[in-house]
Amino acid sequence: MNSLTERLAATLFQAFPFGQQQLRNRLVMAPMTRNQSPNGIPTEEVAQYYRRRAEGGIGLIITEGTYINHPGANGYPQVPAFYGEKALAGWEHVVKEVHAAGGKIIPQLWHVGLIRRAGTEPDPSVPGYGPMEVLEEGKVVVKAMSKADIDAVVEAFAKAASDAEKVGFDGIELHGAHEYLLDNFLWEGTNQRTDEYGGSIENRTRFPVEIIKAVRSVVSKDFPVVFRFSQWKQRDYNARLANTPEELKRVLQPLADAGVDVFHASTRRFWEAEFAGSEDNLATWTQRLINKPVITVGSIGLDRAFSLEQFQGRDYPTVQFDQLSALADRLEQHKFDLVAVGRALLSEPDWAAKVRAGDYKTIKNFSSEALATLVV
Ligand SMILES: Cc1cc2nc3c(=O)[nH]c(=O)nc-3n(C[C@H](O)[C@H](O)[C@H](O)COP(=O)(O)O)c2cc1C
Repeated sequence: MNSLTERLAATLFQAFPFGQQQLRNRLVMAPMTRNQSPNGIPTEEVAQYYRRRAEGGIGLIITEGTYINHPGANGYPQVPAFYGEKALAGWEHVVKEVHAAGGKIIPQLWHVGLIRRAGTEPDPSVPGYGPMEVLEEGKVVVKAMSKADIDAVVEAFAKAASDAEKVGFDGIELHGAHEYLLDNFLWEGTNQRTDEYGGSIENRTRFPVEIIKAVRSVVSKDFPVVFRFSQWKQRDYNARLANTPEELKRVLQPLADAGVDVFHASTRRFWEAEFAGSEDNLATWTQRLINKPVITVGSIGLDRAFSLEQFQGRDYPTVQFDQLSALADRLEQHKFDLVAVGRALLSEPDWAAKVRAGDYKTIKNFSSEALATLVV
């Protein structure tokens, strides 16, 4: 039996095609909001933070969520924008730094949907936008999107994708997960519209399909479009978009047909079975049902799954590597193509290089400082 390091060298650390390019290995940095871009502009420190992860050996970086040019797109303080001269110049610099270190990078294009509340940047008077109106204490906090709102968001996503290609990114990821806008339309829990954007699965996929088609129409033919989706919602980890493999196929096939190249199945623990009767996780089911490359993610290198408590200083994970042999098993069986790592990379920029070398002992632990600052 080969050692774990040899097994990962033969799988995780093999190149993979991405559009016209090659990723040097299968490791992806998961998108992570860092709230360190005042006025929506990525700073020099942000550029160095991403560069360090490229220097540390990550094949593909997915940036933190970056909001498109629509008044309700952002939900949090100091998140980078993806429009306007200064923000795009900041991103262009990020791309140059990552490329100089031999990495590839794509932005995660984001609209937070019904999670936004008035009082948030950039225009505090703007409420949330979602499939349905949401009232809190008798006041409208989320506006039900009209057809004109939907068209404006489709256009804003397309513009962002075309700008991404212009400033040199290697593709884009559309954020369709975690209870943000696209997921709000996909999931019946937040979408009971009675028009052509609600009701059947086909209707619930219509808005994301329009976005993907609009994006495809403005970028080069081989410019990779990644779509991130999740069963879980940030306010309900047990929620489900699809209860059966058949339903999953009905959600994802129209997105694939519209032009998605890679699916990013967001799960909190990569080893968990998705549907009864099989050990396969959400990424593996997606790969088999849709026949597209997939990214898996969830608790790699850490002993505890992602939770919102961790942002409030509770329930911190610690490093552990027990599940890496389970990861190697699944990679050997081609159960997924790419592997995203999130929190473990916040405190240890050299995570990829150290795992490749089998140097587990010096991998730095997850810490509250690493969550609060940009470790470079
Ligand atoms: C600080 C932090 C910020 C995050 N921000 C985003 C985000 O902007 N977009 C997104 O899709 N997921 C986001 N996530 C989820 C991660 O991409 C990832 O799916 C999750 O952390 C699980 O991976 P891990 O167990 O390797 O950390 C965030 C996670 C963390 C810890």
